[in-house]
Amino acid sequence: MQAEKPKPMELSLASKKLAPSATLAMNELIAAKREKGEKVYHMGFGQSPFPVHRLVRKALCDNSWRQNYLSTQGILPLRQTVSAFYKEMFRLDYGPDQIVVGPGSKPLMFAALTVLDGPIFLPAPSWVSYQHMGRFLDRDVHHIRTTSADSYRLTPEALDHALKEHAPDKREQKILVLNYPSNPTGHTYDADQLKEIAQVAREHKVIVLSDEIYALTHFNDQSHHSIAEFYPENTLVTGGLSKDRSLGGYRLGVLLLPKGEKELLRTILAVASEIWSSVASPIQYAAIEAYRTDTGLVEYIRECAGVHELVTRYVFARLQRAGVTCPHPQGAFYLFPDWNNRRESLAKLGVKSSADLARYLLEKYLVSSLPGSEFGMVPQDLCLRLATVDYDGEAALRRLHRSPDAACKKPDKFVEAVAPSVVEACKRLEEFSRSLE
Ligand SMILES: Cc1ncc(COP(=O)(O)O)c(C=O)c1O
Repeated sequence: MQAEKPKPMELSLASKKLAPSATLAMNELIAAKREKGEKVYHMGFGQSPFPVHRLVRKALCDNSWRQNYLSTQGILPLRQTVSAFYKEMFRLDYGPDQIVVGPGSKPLMFAALTVLDGPIFLPAPSWVSYQHMGRFLDRDVHHIRTTSADSYRLTPEALDHALKEHAPDKREQKILVLNYPSNPTGHTYDADQLKEIAQVAREHKVIVLSDEIYALTHFNDQSHHSIAEFYPENTLVTGGLSKDRSLGGYRLGVLLLPKGEKELLRTILAVASEIWSSVASPIQYAAIEAYRTDTGLVEYIRECAGVHELVTRYVFARLQRAGVTCPHPQGAFYLFPDWNNRRESLAKLGVKSSADLARYLLEKYLVSSLPGSEFGMVPQDLCLRLATVDYDGEAALRRLHRSPDAACKKPDKFVEAVAPSVVEACKRLEEFSRSLE
């Protein structure tokens, strides 16, 4: 007798809204192509390519014997070091009792969004995960349109307008997720712009979840400002080791909470304790080293950020020369160009959406990217996110150390020497853009 074919398991309603992260999916697709020996110029995944700093590696080895669960909030010496780090680097005053350590800033954001009530507002474009977190939590998610001409900056007027349109009751709480320097655009906000946003937020009872994971990749890190400086009572700040210290796989992030928010802290820790218990013990101890400011770590962060800046500016300049519209990058390692001015030529090739455009570039030019639609843009907007990190970070730093002056005086030569895949991707993007003229 033939066995009855098992029926697929029944899934929850919430699961129907879920798709795997587009960035991770693209990375896996490229890895599979490369394994088959296919060459791909990878601009689809934003992983900083620099090696683990030797002091952090040593701290991790020295603490590998620790096998116990640790406190859910994070060990006190780590929270004390994080507190001192934020004071020194960003002039932000958060005591250790206002800090939560988690396995990356992503789950910390999810925990915060789980416990905070209210509809979620996101500028479009915004990093891919926020909208999915909101939908998974069954919350109303509203994208606020921004424009390329304004570097996709959220203006106070646009925020005010969106709040009035979707949540007009000023007494009801809302949430705004703001990320700067931004993934996907590389744009950031100066102090005055943040003050203006804070003013609108205060007026409408908006809690700001301020994702500042790229703060130290700002092309001039001393000028990074946090909206928490101007709106401390209702801002939650997230950060971590993944970007400026190239430690994404260590999975350690931090969440800074406003003073006196005891119930918020208690409920976030309740979520954390039921889901991840605590961050891996050796990683928490290694992170103490990664947050110290007196050992050369900060200089290392600045050096890596300097290379990101050289490569990102190089790609930006080549796109500009090819006539591609792209806002000026100010930090991180991303660009957000668009081909809207080539819409007619692209339509003849069957390219009518950013997803078509990303697919076309991968198939015909072997350049991977992510479609703007993943970042909350309307599908027909022909924009892409390009990451500028497909090179050997260790070799780039070696060359920088050998001749720091040469990198400053002849940045193009430096990039051509250290990032040949990025340079080839630029050539292909230029060829593609010219083919549309
Ligand atoms: C804007 C932004 N926020 C947060 C994260 C996630 O960081 P973490 O590794 O700390 O979870 C990323 C990672 O790509 C990101 O680009």
